[in-house]
Amino acid sequence: MVLFDCLLLNLMTYAVIISTSFYFYLRYRYTFWQRQGCPVPLEPHIIYGHTKEVTKMKTWVGEHYASIYFNTNGYKFVGFYQFQKPKLMLRDLNIIKDVFTKEFSTFPNRGIVFDDKLEPLTGNLLTLEGHKWKVLRNKLTPAFTIGKIKNMIDLIDGRAQEMVRILEAPAVIDEQVEFKELLARFSTDVISIVAFGFETNSLANPDAEFRKVGRMLFSTSIESIIRNALNALAPSLIGLLKVRSIKKEYADFFYNVVNDTVRYREENNIQRNDFLDLLMKIKRGQNLASEEESKLVLNENEGKEDFKFTMDVLAAQCFVWFIGGYETSSITLTFTFFELAQNPEVQMRAQDEIDSVLIKHNGKLTYEILQEMTYLDMIVSG
Ligand code: HEM
Repeated sequence: MVLFDCLLLNLMTYAVIISTSFYFYLRYRYTFWQRQGCPVPLEPHIIYGHTKEVTKMKTWVGEHYASIYFNTNGYKFVGFYQFQKPKLMLRDLNIIKDVFTKEFSTFPNRGIVFDDKLEPLTGNLLTLEGHKWKVLRNKLTPAFTIGKIKNMIDLIDGRAQEMVRILEAPAVIDEQVEFKELLARFSTDVISIVAFGFETNSLANPDAEFRKVGRMLFSTSIESIIRNALNALAPSLIGLLKVRSIKKEYADFFYNVVNDTVRYREENNIQRNDFLDLLMKIKRGQNLASEEESKLVLNENEGKEDFKFTMDVLAAQCFVWFIGGYETSSITLTFTFFELAQNPEVQMRAQDEIDSVLIKHNGKLTYEILQEMTYLDMIVSG
């Protein structure tokens, strides 16, 4: 009995020492910004920092940042904590401008945790940092020109016509249509055809493989929650525990489609003048960026290891175009249609503008005549 009491006392003493040390360790972590002389106007939670509501999925990250912003009026910048990780929010336009321009070389990274050895598709323009990002951005800049977009209009129009055909039947019988899903399928088809020449057929088939990949990437699952928590708490564990961000079967599917298409185009000497073509040229060693830009990047990065543009790097850039292009466009369209449905007079005015511009140009949609649809532009751009 005495031995038991003694053991219990020892255990309790250890528990008190450990929890008190942990408490003071956390308190120390939460004084980081104070030690830097940066204000933290909102009181952090001892475990979650300022991310309690997001972690419990009561709000989403955009609203969470907005709430910090709107609750810290009068400050030029404020510190906050993602769990115990210090984060800084800039609120002053002049400081923000400096970070994006004059001080850009100090802040070039987005801080996205990835492991391109485990998941080659994650080593892309959005996640890469420093030297690698600069070299790649320079190589890929020609993909973002107006000329390239002009060539895509016919392909986009083709998918839009298909969507109109799909909507005809439900319109006749006044049936409701789930527009968010329809627009996700439309955007999947558009991005895939304009960037890689893939016919993904998502409009015709809601369960097309590409649509499944897109759906999986933007849905919440146990894996994505664990990954997000690790990202905030202990990013180094992501690599150590080999936590994936893309299900292996979907990653393999995407990689193989790109790989097979590249091989097919190479073997049959096919040129489509799209994003994939550009990537294939870079992989063959062609430099498509202007001489001036290349010189600048090369000078800045003198002495640094050369960045090899392998098949893995090529597939990763296709992947970021796919996810970056499809979800953003699809959500923008969804909100646009939602607003139009709620504001029929705006919808009528937009329709009148589209009709009159198309009539003026014999019904043919081109990049140039899109520029004449100024009211539509105001609706989409907000
Ligand atoms: C409404 C539409 C879109 C929105 C709101 C949007 C938003 C963004 C944002 C906020 C960034 C990060 C910028 C930064 O940190 O400096 C980004 C980067 C990027 N986006 Fe988009 N995007 C859209 C459409 C697209 C489309 C259609 C594509 C491709 C087809 C695309 C491809 C990319 C790529 C490749 C990057 C990385 C660029 C780089 O690192 O240089 N995005 N986008």
